[in-house]
Formats: sequence, C-alpha cells, structure tokens
Amino acid sequence: MTGTTLDDYTDRYAQRARGMNASEIRALFAVASRPEVVSLAGGSPYVSALPLDAVGDMLGELVARHGASTLQYCIGQGDLALREVICEVMSLEGIDASVGVSPDDVVVSVGAQQALDLVARVFLDPGDVVLAEGPTYVGALGVFQAAQADVVHVPMDDEGLIPEALQEALREVSDSGRRAKFLYTVPTYHNPGGVTLPGPRREWILEICRRAGLLVLEDNPYGLLGFDADPLPALRSMVRDGVIYLGTFSKTFSSGVRMGWVLAPHAVREKLVIASEAQILCPSMLSQSAVTTYFQTMPWQEQLKTFRTLYAERRDAALAALHDFMPAGTAWTHPAGGFYVWVTLPEGLDSKAMLPRAIHNRVAYVPGTGFYGDGGGRQHLRLSYCFPPPERIRDGVRRLATVIGEELELRTAFGASGPFEAAEQSVPVIDGPRSAADTPPQGLA
Ligand SMILES: Cc1ncc(COP(=O)(O)O)c(C=O)c1O
Repeated sequence: MTGTTLDDYTDRYAQRARGMNASEIRALFAVASRPEVVSLAGGSPYVSALPLDAVGDMLGELVARHGASTLQYCIGQGDLALREVICEVMSLEGIDASVGVSPDDVVVSVGAQQALDLVARVFLDPGDVVLAEGPTYVGALGVFQAAQADVVHVPMDDEGLIPEALQEALREVSDSGRRAKFLYTVPTYHNPGGVTLPGPRREWILEICRRAGLLVLEDNPYGLLGFDADPLPALRSMVRDGVIYLGTFSKTFSSGVRMGWVLAPHAVREKLVIASEAQILCPSMLSQSAVTTYFQTMPWQEQLKTFRTLYAERRDAALAALHDFMPAGTAWTHPAGGFYVWVTLPEGLDSKAMLPRAIHNRVAYVPGTGFYGDGGGRQHLRLSYCFPPPERIRDGVRRLATVIGEELELRTAFGASGPFEAAEQSVPVIDGPRSAADTPPQGLA
C-alpha cells in the first residue's frame, strides 16, 4: 500500500489545525486552471506588463556583481535600503515624517500575507474578537481562523465600511462581555468588495476607533492602483497612533518577489521583528535587493501608470459586459481601482452551488462564501478582472450571465427546493493542454 485518503494523524493535530481543511472549491480551481476556462477567480497581477528584459538584466547583475551580499542572510527587520524605499512609496499616500514615520518603524515581510500573520501572532489569543468588513479578504480570514480568533463582520455599502454598523458591532461585542482586539480593514479598492471608503468616512471611522480604544489594522495592497484620481490618503496618514499599516510590492511590482511590509508603533515593531525571526529568520535578501534596485533605478512611477491604464481597461471591459449580459436582478459594484468586482446574484441563487455549472460552462469565479467567516455570502461572488485580456473578460462574463440565466430558469421551473441544488455538483472533467502563463494559480489572492 502506498497511501490512503484516511488521515491517521487526526488525534495528534493541534487545536488550531482542526479547521485547516482543503475546501471543495480548491478542487474546482484545479480544473479552472485549464486554458479553455476563462478565470475571473484569481487575483494574480499582470506581471507580463513589466519590462521583463530589463528586470531580467537587473536580477542577473544583482547576483553577478553583488552576489556576496544578495545571496546572504540579512537582519530580521529587513534591509535598511529597502525600508527607505518603502517610506518613499508610502509617502505617495501621505504616510511620511509629518505623521512620525521613519524606516525604523518598518518591518519587511514575505508579502503582506506574512505581515498579517505576524500581527495575529502578536495580538490574538484563541477566542479573541477581530472586527472585519463583511465580506473580507480570504487570506486574512485564514490567518485569523488559524489564530482561533472569532471574526465578527461589519457590513459595507457602496462606500465601504458603514460607520454606524461599526458602532453597532462594537456595542454587541461589548454587551457579550468581550472586547475586540482590532478592526481589520481594506479601505481602498477593497478585496473582494471593489469599493472605497471616501475621505469623510475615513475620519469618522478613525474617530469611532479612537473613542473605543480599538486598534486599526489597515491593509492597503491596491492604494496606488486607482483609475480616476490621485491616491487617497491612507488611514495611517491621518493619525500618528492607533493604526498598524500593511503594504506590499505584489501589485505594484511583482507578486513573485514576495515582498511586503508592516509599519507599526515602536514597541509593536519590536515584537513583530522577534515573531518574524522565529518564523523565517530574515526576509530573502535577493528579493529585497531586487525590489530596492527596481525602485531606485527603474521608472517605477511610469510603470505604475502602465498598470493603472491596463487594469482600468479591464475594469471597463468587465463593467460593460456585466451591463450588457447580466439578467435582471443582478447587481455589482463599480470599482475605482484595484482588481475586483463584487456581484450580487438575483434573489435565491447560490454562488457556491452554481460554481460547478459555471466551470462546466468554462468560466470561474470565487463564491462569496470564501470571504465570510460565518457562512454568509452565498448570494454573492467575486470577479477579478486583473489577469485576462478584455476580450476574454467579456467572454467570461457572457458565459457567467448564461449560467445565471439558466439557474433562474431552473428556479422558475422547479421552485426553491428543486432538484438543481444537488444536481451537477461533481467536478467537471475538462481535457486540454495547460498553459502556465495564461492561467495563474486560482483564487488564493
Ligand atoms: C487585501 C489583501 N491583503 C493581503 C494580500 C496578500 O498580498 P501579498 O502578495 O503581499 O502577500 C492580498 C493579496 O491579494 C490582498 O488582496
């Protein structure tokens, strides 16, 4: 016998591993990587728009000329030259010395994802409450769940987190005798919501948090990818205290270098460094040098414009197709930046139950349930327009609209408890060659 699907280790796992189960959605995404499927699921940036030859030459030089340092360990906090670049990038959103920021307050991480995990390690005990938008970033949910925290969702509308709902959530948590540890928020070009918190609401939410003594964890991967206006001021740029800020180079340069950061008050920063050293010793010096050299020597602001124009065209293609093809009763957000549109299905439809049928019809999305820790989100789904070219996006949305139309017809024919709930739930088998360049990993970002 070479193996079994039964797990012989179940009685030995730590408590926190109990919820670590591969979902059926993962199995579907394996099929969705086929080139004939238009994937509107994953949030992979379109790195092919980078000047790849020039970046390749730069990487070669980093090893050939500076290998003695770039192939070496570095300090746990991260290389100072990169932390200076990070401060320059953050200053575009108003986070600078005027609000007490210096490279000393920055910890370099393996993407914003590790930064999230570090914050969870430093702040969360099992059973602690984290407030987060509903829906929220799937990778943050994974981190909070691994820390055995209790995520309480706060509803959003077209302008992001609703301040009154935050006040209400705070009241409910306190009435239940508990205290929320922090508010996790993606205020700008939300993943998965595609909405953005306007200036006055930012102030209001910061004021609510200040009064409640609630720490804010601001996650901002997309802030420099706005389509219509200058960058909005980050929450961290509006206050000196009370906000821990997460940033990343995944969407402005490369997700493959796995470089992000956390900006935190001095005492917290100290603990984050110790937590990071326990996890990874230090971030990759090669990746840090790549990012530093890219930002010091290449026209990164021009490249940002290229990315913005490209993603704006794709957003336009997605919105036009939604407008042209979606059946009545379907609604969606209108992102002013970032990668995602949040779709609300007609009453009674279930995006998770519909996914196998959608993939059978050669289009993939992420069901809304992935973005809630409490089982919510069935009537919603996330579409990512960042990776496929505009014609593919249009095709994908057209296919999705057909699937939704068919679901509606089935509902009309059989009623709410009809046979289609259980029908076609098996993962469809689709043959054909794979093409890694056309089909990035699905659904994780
Ligand atoms: C809101 C949000 N936070 C964090 C991340 C993780 O990014 P990174 O690639 O920097 O780990 C993502 C990635 O998509 C994201 O959308």
